[in-house]
Amino acid sequence: MIKKFNFLLPFIISIIFSCSNKKITAVDVLEARIDTLLHLMSLDEKIGQMNQLNSTGKVNDFFELIKSGQVGSFLNEIDPAKINEMQKIAVEECRLRIPLVFARDVIHGFKTILPIPLGQAATWNPELIEAGAGVAATEASETGIRWTFAPMIDISRDPRWGRIAESLGEDPLLTSILGASMVKGFQGKSLSASNSIAACVKHYAAYGAVEGGRDYNSVTTSEQALREIYLSSFKASVDAGAATLMTSFNEINGVPSSCNEFLLKKVLRDEWKFNGVVVSDWASVEELIPHGICVDGKDAAAKAANAGVDIEMVSSLFSQHLKELLKEGKVTEKAIDDAVRNILRLKYRLGLFKNPYVKINVKSSAYSEEHLKLARELATQSIVLLKNKRNILPLKKGIKTIAVIGPLADAPYDQMGTWVLDGDAKFTQTPLMALKQEFSNKVKILYEKGLEFSRDKNKSNFKKALKASKMADAVIIFAGEESILSGEARCRADISLPGAQSQLIEEMKNSGKPIILVILAGRPLTIQKECDLADAVLYAWHPGTMGGPAIADILLGKVLPSGKLPVTFPKMVGQIPIYYSHKNTGRPVGEPLELIDDIPVAAPQFSVGNYCYYLDAGDQPLFPFGYGLSYTTYKYTDLDLSDTIISAGDKLKISCNISNTGNFEGTEIVQLYTRDLVGSLTRPVKELKGFQRITLKPGEKKQVIFMLSTDDLSYWNANMKKVAEPGKFRIWLGGSSESGLETEFTLCER
Ligand code: NOJ
Repeated sequence: MIKKFNFLLPFIISIIFSCSNKKITAVDVLEARIDTLLHLMSLDEKIGQMNQLNSTGKVNDFFELIKSGQVGSFLNEIDPAKINEMQKIAVEECRLRIPLVFARDVIHGFKTILPIPLGQAATWNPELIEAGAGVAATEASETGIRWTFAPMIDISRDPRWGRIAESLGEDPLLTSILGASMVKGFQGKSLSASNSIAACVKHYAAYGAVEGGRDYNSVTTSEQALREIYLSSFKASVDAGAATLMTSFNEINGVPSSCNEFLLKKVLRDEWKFNGVVVSDWASVEELIPHGICVDGKDAAAKAANAGVDIEMVSSLFSQHLKELLKEGKVTEKAIDDAVRNILRLKYRLGLFKNPYVKINVKSSAYSEEHLKLARELATQSIVLLKNKRNILPLKKGIKTIAVIGPLADAPYDQMGTWVLDGDAKFTQTPLMALKQEFSNKVKILYEKGLEFSRDKNKSNFKKALKASKMADAVIIFAGEESILSGEARCRADISLPGAQSQLIEEMKNSGKPIILVILAGRPLTIQKECDLADAVLYAWHPGTMGGPAIADILLGKVLPSGKLPVTFPKMVGQIPIYYSHKNTGRPVGEPLELIDDIPVAAPQFSVGNYCYYLDAGDQPLFPFGYGLSYTTYKYTDLDLSDTIISAGDKLKISCNISNTGNFEGTEIVQLYTRDLVGSLTRPVKELKGFQRITLKPGEKKQVIFMLSTDDLSYWNANMKKVAEPGKFRIWLGGSSESGLETEFTLCER
């Protein structure tokens, strides 16, 4: 019956459209199909589509629910045979044969684990990140997963927050560009291709701004800051075609996201015209009750559905209450129909009506040579060289013996990072394995863990580690955090190296040998003291399956470090929040008048001449956003603007020359920043406006060109209008947020 109807649809549509002289598009046909199906659906079937359940792994648990159309999607079923079994019930036994969709958190790889997203962001390489998401999509879709809950594009400026690991860092532009790349990578050229999976941008919104960096906490912010800082990455992903979006756990100014009409209706649907699916986060509809905004489950279902949540993840309050709520007039039929339309649209776009089943027994591409190569490339480019005293790195040819120390030198599970539901640690290549392979018998490796794991406080093996270090020409210490210390619900008030790792580094310093510190972690750690102790420091994040070879490539200089920090590193926790695009304040950064140890005893209180800094930390971070060294050096010269005065609609051409002044071929990430000197609202001291990766041979010089539009200079003013205001702008072009050639131009009134 439906099939017959579908067959007739194009003709019906063509008759309607021929009367209106409008050409029929594929979208028109799709929308007509959706409407047709919607009209055939009972209320129970509609509500069923809005219900997402967590698989228990037992098909029988869900047989009746699927057969009667009371569930539309599942998360966490990854057995292709079971997926097909469940799908068979939906498309062969259920009245309207609407396929199910199966979802999973495929965040930084499925089987082949890529670096954590924060590490990927340090590559500043949109194409590579897109390819990485493509690898994850291919591997996941082979098991029948067609929907991932990624990318996470929450702007994250608080390293105490464990979920910073899942983010793309602190900057709206960098996150927008890299997040959109992930969306494209997951979804491929066509969402209906069997190896594409629907992306889900999350967590909408401002989850990264939770008070004190404590997970699930509240957010207080202005609409202006919300739009400027936290929403722009979502807008970019929606524009890139993200098929779905997830609400966040937090409230903003008293309204939890899963019942936030401003976010879900005004901004998302009315302003951005999003026609994809909105899914609530895990039981976040039910959590509206403890939030204190709903009296009970029925109230929560009403508020979430009316606000625009299409699918409720796991708490099933829609299933329990929507029918009654509709009868009582507390939820409209339109709200339910709109949600179901979005869900059916997703299933059509995924091609599930045509191809509901996953192919069984196909050769899996998991851990294929090609995927491992990509994982290695991503990990290599994600590594940031923070310090390299006397060019201690790359390791010199003449080295005979190396001491490999530390709990993370050979930790296959931990180096994979936080979101690893499916990656298998037995495929992980650790730094120790990779160094052994690289050196074969040519360099002797003395391996002593010193500590069993990152939180270990037992120093009894320090002696052995020191002995090995004394016998070596150089000491490489692999320290950091186990993967379980970052990610969801993994917030830390003290973000220094856990356990006795700091003492281990101190102890190894007594060997008198050069110390190379490699940190594997899910967040920026406060490592000022350790950086001072070490001769060289590499920040490798949690680098995933191929982290070992990637780190070895960098240590040996087979590949030059090119990563740049996507987030500011504080010296100490008390400096948080600390980020590069802060405001100037009425007392801008200068030279601290005095620090804590300069103050005489019984000094009289005074404030004149002081500015916004801490007595015990000054105003500077440990490492700024955009920072990262290499084994070669770059020189920026000849900054040039096509004009010094531009008006609305103009494009400004900004160029400079960049030369490789060192001895190795390398890739520099050139960064463009601007500052709007005077605005109707105060503006940040710097804002990233663009970046490019430039590869240069030793001695080579290239011109780099950026085109800046007046639109790029616009921001949300007090009336919530995005405007570029006339006035002077400063501009910087350089290799980090703290350095660069500098000039000014004026945007004049039209
Ligand atoms: C809760 C997390 O906040 C979210 O990111 C994730 O996608 C869901 N659980 C599903 O696992």
